[in-house]
Amino acid sequence: MREMHPGADADAQLRGGAAYPNVILRARFCEDALRAAVGQGVRQYVIVGAGFDSFALRRPDWAREVEIVEVDHPATQGFKLQRLQACGVEVPPHVQFVAADLGAEKLGDALGRSRFRVGEPAFFAWLGVTMYLPRDANLATFREIARLGAGGGELVFTYADAKRFDETASHSQRYAKMREMVTSVGEPFVSGFDPTAIGADLAACGLRLVEDVGTDDLIRRYDPQGLNGMHADGLGRIARAVVT
Ligand SMILES: C[S@@+](CC[C@H](N)C(=O)[O-])C[C@H]1O[C@@H](n2cnc3c(N)ncnc32)[C@H](O)[C@@H]1O
Repeated sequence: MREMHPGADADAQLRGGAAYPNVILRARFCEDALRAAVGQGVRQYVIVGAGFDSFALRRPDWAREVEIVEVDHPATQGFKLQRLQACGVEVPPHVQFVAADLGAEKLGDALGRSRFRVGEPAFFAWLGVTMYLPRDANLATFREIARLGAGGGELVFTYADAKRFDETASHSQRYAKMREMVTSVGEPFVSGFDPTAIGADLAACGLRLVEDVGTDDLIRRYDPQGLNGMHADGLGRIARAVVT
């Protein structure tokens, strides 16, 4: 009989859900883009709504000189810091944590409490967040990132295809499961963008769309042979934009 590694059940459970590829593929796509930006001289990385993002802790050699700022809701960030401490994980000196409720405070004001330098090139990640916020709040954050990144800025963000909110469309079972899951934890998706209009939406906020792909495309890109058994629900997207 094949030996199972500890946690194999949890692993299988995770891989079975559509959220799993979303999380690992967005991190991979974002960090590939970050690596290219660092190669071009970017030395500031702002992770907006960082959650339990672990980049700062597993920082690869190519990011050695990058100043990382994690901005997150005080409740989530407080819990993360508590867990890091409880697990004996030391926070590296190049990482700063800024607690901010971005529903009540502008990103720029929050970054004012960090060593972030406005006017110098910066890379922003905004992963797994826009779908929980109303459209106006998302557009305001795009504009804020364009302002903060005026010295050479790049943004990678995920969004839900607006079709997700079309009650008349026929949706997959994976979509239904995902919707049930986020709603059951009290965090329903509230807004999305139309992929055919996202370029214009960004342009109106001072950003130029460079790449926009679906999670299914990313599965084909990073796991062409399907070795990880990942399946997406077809409505999650990730985009890369630069400040104009
Ligand atoms: C689904 S998690 C995504 C975490 C991580 N970026 C990732 O890719 O896995 C959503 C994150 O958005 C943050 N968030 C939600 N509302 C927020 C708010 N009003 N202000 C700041 N952060 C917020 C949460 O604290 C959480 O860390």
